[in-house]
Amino acid sequence: MSQIKDPHHNLSQALEQLKNQALESFQNSTQRQELYDQKVRFLGKQGLLTDFMKKLSGVPKEERPKWGQLLNQIKVQLESRHAEVETKLQKKELDQKIQSEKIDVTLPSAGEPLGTSHPVTLVTREFFQIMSRLGYSLNMGPCIESDHYNFQALNIPQHHPARDMQDTFFVDDNLVLRTHTSPVWSRYLESNKPPFRILGTGPVFRCDSDISHLPHFHQFEAALVDRKVSMSDLKGTISFVVREFFGQGLQTRFRPSFFPFTEPSAEVDCTCPICHGKGCSLCKQSGWIEIGGCGLIHPNVFSEAKVSSEEWQGFAFGFGIERMAIIKYGIPDIRLFPENDLRFLTQFGA
Ligand code: DAH
Repeated sequence: MSQIKDPHHNLSQALEQLKNQALESFQNSTQRQELYDQKVRFLGKQGLLTDFMKKLSGVPKEERPKWGQLLNQIKVQLESRHAEVETKLQKKELDQKIQSEKIDVTLPSAGEPLGTSHPVTLVTREFFQIMSRLGYSLNMGPCIESDHYNFQALNIPQHHPARDMQDTFFVDDNLVLRTHTSPVWSRYLESNKPPFRILGTGPVFRCDSDISHLPHFHQFEAALVDRKVSMSDLKGTISFVVREFFGQGLQTRFRPSFFPFTEPSAEVDCTCPICHGKGCSLCKQSGWIEIGGCGLIHPNVFSEAKVSSEEWQGFAFGFGIERMAIIKYGIPDIRLFPENDLRFLTQFGA
């Protein structure tokens, strides 16, 4: 009996030693990596506890379950100690991280770069100032406009091929994102007695995008309704405002054109600011940049608004604001406008 007892006694002692050694090394670990290494060393697949199990091959069969049970208890005990220490180290690491990443909210900030007025705003403001000196007042219309005011009231009936001139974003059967600012005066004409001089301005939308077109851009519109209005009144007004706006150095020209809501109609061009008329990619080698359209208000537009075209005449013109900014500041690409990049914007001051 004593012969059998002896090896068991040694085995128990060795196991006790192994357990205490493991508990101690878990306890003494100061880093999670160190703790992990100790876990592998004692509890890993090829760890010391598994090694120990192999030693049990010498134990008589009937004693093995008892040893198995004991080993399991020790394993559970070690795992629980490991988990305890791991939680403690995790908390310690988190505390250290919180300490080292502390933000002092009382420190002064590095400062945010300030924005400036957008060239579209600058052009709108300046143009408005020039036009108001001529007695025009500002009227706003909705950006989501009815089919009626955007097209019908401007002598563009449904299925008319002129609707294809402007690729439209439709909201539903009756509403569109306005494709131009001309509806500002088609609305006004319907519910205000002439004579009047009005302006409209704001965003317009078209399914269009390249070096000289944006799907979302801005227009400036003017309309005058009075008795005996002629094409020379229109040309005189446009020539004056364009000269006031761009200065004397720039040339303008009127090209006969077609718009359903004006008759006669013309397009207004200015000399290209990039090549000064020689021809470049911005002006498509023509030397000119189109800034908008104009004309005498069509009699059908008066009759749509129930205003007598015998008694009243009028002119209207609409300019693209980005186009005007391109010419005024020599901006080479219309796509710079919607980017809101401060490196671009700060060049225009104000
Ligand atoms: N609404 C036209 C467009 O966006 C431009 C235009 C042409 C406006 C003639 C006018 C005008 O007031 O008379 O293409």
